[in-house]
Amino acid sequence: MKLLIIGANGMLARDAIEAFQGSHELVLCDHPDIDIRYIDSVMPFFDRHRPDWVLNCAAYTNVDGAETDRDTAFAVNADGPGILARACRAHGARLCHISTDFVFNGCKQEPYLETDPASPLSVYGQSKLAGEQRIQETFEDYLIVRSSWMFGRGGKNFITTICRLAAQKPEVQVVDDQRGCPTSAADLAAILRIALEKNLRGIYHVCNAGVCSWFELAREAVALSGINSRVVPISTAQIPRPARRPAFSAMDCSKISRDCGLHIRHWREALRDYIAQI
Ligand SMILES: NC(=O)c1ccc[n+]([C@@H]2O[C@H](COP(=O)([O-])OP(=O)(O)OC[C@H]3O[C@@H](n4cnc5c(N)ncnc54)[C@H](OP(=O)(O)O)[C@@H]3O)[C@@H](O)[C@H]2O)c1
Repeated sequence: MKLLIIGANGMLARDAIEAFQGSHELVLCDHPDIDIRYIDSVMPFFDRHRPDWVLNCAAYTNVDGAETDRDTAFAVNADGPGILARACRAHGARLCHISTDFVFNGCKQEPYLETDPASPLSVYGQSKLAGEQRIQETFEDYLIVRSSWMFGRGGKNFITTICRLAAQKPEVQVVDDQRGCPTSAADLAAILRIALEKNLRGIYHVCNAGVCSWFELAREAVALSGINSRVVPISTAQIPRPARRPAFSAMDCSKISRDCGLHIRHWREALRDYIAQI
């Protein structure tokens, strides 16, 4: 398979490159060499490389920033995937696109299924949902993978931020009333490889097993890192942020587990491996 990875310098992409290299031909590109907001920027990559699959890891990922930069968030997260879908359709390529748990409003009491209605609370979530819809309106050869709370070696993330703060301060405060599923980018990348090799189509949820709050995740990360700092639970209301986030965004991964014959490990196990590597 010839795979074009877009957004190749991003966190997930770094692990995806590791997961695919050696067994598949990779073409890597990122901003500013390619700008997915513009078809004229995208098409030359398709004409030159003629990929079988395209993995879109490019996105506008600043959740709070999107609240005041709506146009850029929609251009990258909604127009971009639509343009990639058009380019894939024109070249007979398949598109794997990464989406998010933030398409849900968090009102459900149990893990979200792929068939549950989406109703994002933030501009970021709205732009990501619009991206899913643009792809679906364009063609059928897509695989949309929604993931959540990601940590990987290729970028700054919640775990690296919390460990840095905990190393500097005797106490760090973390919200305890937002619950979701942490996800190792390496585990997600390994699953993406299986999914692409199986030519899966449609929408799938992929995250590590287990549900926790940001506080519980931070406490575990700080303990595993051996940092001597107290992690203190607080409520979302105590630290207002520009973007609203779902109170509960855990996703049910039984569809991907069934279709790929997978057992997805618990986030604690994935976090232990991650902390040991950073
Ligand atoms: N991180 C999470 O917790 C999380 C959770 C759920 C879902 N996701 C989704 O997972 C995917 C990967 O996330 P990530 O955290 O790995 O992202 P990331 O580290 O922020 O990387 C995104 C990449 O996209 C590039 N990019 C931005 N605008 C672009 C454009 N117009 N054209 C081409 N490339 C552009 C960025 O380049 P510049 O840096 O130069 O802008 C960056 O290299 C995204 O779709 C995200 O929505 C992430």
